[in-house]
Amino acid sequence: MHAVGVAAHAFASKGELYQELAAEMDALLAGESDGIANLANAAAAIFDRLPDLNWAGFYLLRGDVLVLGPFQGKVACTRIEVGKGVCGTAVTRRASICVEDVHAFPGHIACDSASESELVVPLMRDGQVFGVLDLDSPRLARFDSDDQAGCEALAAIISRHLAVTPSA
Ligand code: SME
Repeated sequence: MHAVGVAAHAFASKGELYQELAAEMDALLAGESDGIANLANAAAAIFDRLPDLNWAGFYLLRGDVLVLGPFQGKVACTRIEVGKGVCGTAVTRRASICVEDVHAFPGHIACDSASESELVVPLMRDGQVFGVLDLDSPRLARFDSDDQAGCEALAAIISRHLAVTPSA
């Protein structure tokens, strides 16, 4: 296990970091019922707490298109078709995708040229995908199976707190 330093804390492992972030996320979103407000705070919490990110945010499914939602980072493409890019592929597969090198992923959509690796996790409700959590890093192979499991847990918490799917 490698030490992970975040803000004022130093965590013994990524698992510990994600456990703490999950508890924080649950508390952060618990008092608010508005979906946009909760996605905005979720993006900010993730961007603030996970090291080496240049983008963290959400795309929400509108028919066959993912539309940009709340995020932190540089301006991004606003619409991604289902099946396109890492985000649209995660929707088709209904599974998270961890990309060590975005330049090696066929069809990767480059929003920020600094991005080198990416993790996309579907947001699910009642077995249906309604959006994705997307994380980009300027570091190659930034994300591993611990990040994938940690972000899947975060996505489940976030989905549970969205009482109503944010509408267009
Ligand atoms: N790289 C993503 C596009 C979204 S940005 O990274 C914010 C993709 O290939 O779907």
